[in-house]
Amino acid sequence: MTQHVLVEKSEKLLVLTLNRPDKKNALTRAMYATLGAEIANADADPNIRCILIKANGDMFTAGNDLADFAAIGNATAAPKPEDANPLLPALARSRTPIVAAVNGRALGIGVTLLLHCDMVYMADDALLIAPFVNLALVPEAGSSLLMPLRIGHVRAFEMFVLGEPVSAGKAVSWGLANRTVPAAELHAAARAAALAIAARAPASVVATKSLMRDQEGMLARMSEESGNFLRQLKSAEFKEAFNAFSERRAADFSKFG
Ligand code: COA
Repeated sequence: MTQHVLVEKSEKLLVLTLNRPDKKNALTRAMYATLGAEIANADADPNIRCILIKANGDMFTAGNDLADFAAIGNATAAPKPEDANPLLPALARSRTPIVAAVNGRALGIGVTLLLHCDMVYMADDALLIAPFVNLALVPEAGSSLLMPLRIGHVRAFEMFVLGEPVSAGKAVSWGLANRTVPAAELHAAARAAALAIAARAPASVVATKSLMRDQEGMLARMSEESGNFLRQLKSAEFKEAFNAFSERRAADFSKFG
C-alpha cells in the first residue's frame, strides 16, 4: 500500500514527506496520525535534532481531505476526544525545531501548520491560500491567534475570509517565510537549513524554541477553535460549500441568513 507520509531519519534529521500527489497531498486522518506521532516522538529521540516537512508532487498540500471533513460533519454520534486531529497538539507541544519546504500551493492546514514551523522556505512561485470561510469553516491550528500576531489583523482577515492567495514574495515580506528559492533548489535549500540547525548546541536550541512559544495558550486556543470548527462542519453552510467543491461550481451562500 502506498505510504502517504514518507518517514526518513538520517543526519540527525527527521524528514516527513507528504506523498499523496494524485490527491494534491490532501491530508487524511491516517496522515495526521503519522505526522502527529512522528513529531511527538522526535522530542524523545536523541538522534533527531530537527524536523523537515516537505512534499512530493506539484503542491505542498491541498489541506484537509474534504471527504474526511464531510464524514465528520455527517456523523450522528457525538465526537470523542480520540477523534481530534493528533497533529495539532503535537505541533503545539513540539520542542524539536521544524523546517518546512513549500512548493506549488499550500492550502488550509498546509498554511496554518507553517505558523508552528521555525523556518519556512518557499519555492519562488509558491502560493499560500487559507480558504476557511470559502468553505464555511473557521481557522484552526491556533492560526486565529498566530496569524494576526504574525502579519496583522487586516492581512489575516483577508486571507481567512476572502481566501486571497499570498505569493511567496509577500509571504517573506509579511514574516510567514524566511526566503524564496527557485523551485528546483527548494528541497536542497530547506535541508541545508535543517542541517544547520541540527549542528547547533541541541539543549540551547530546544530551550530557545520553548522560550519563544506559549504552549498552554496555544492548546487553549486550539480547543476553542475546534468547537467552532465542529459546529461549522455540521452546518448547512458547509454542506453547500462541500457540494460546490464536489460539483466543481462556486458555492452559493445567498440563502443563509
Ligand atoms: N480533499 C480531497 N481531495 C482533494 C482535495 C482535498 N482538499 N484537493 C484536491 N483533491 C483531489 C481532487 O478531488 C482531485 O481528485 P480526482 O482526481 O479523484 O477528481 C485531485 O485531488 C486533483 O485535484 P484537482 O482539483 O483536479 O486539481 P487542481 O490543480 O485543478 O486544483 C486545488 C487543485 C488544490 C486548487 C483544488 O483541488 C482545490 O481547491 N482543492 C480543495 C482545497 C481546499 O479547499 N482545502 C481545504 C482547505 S481548509
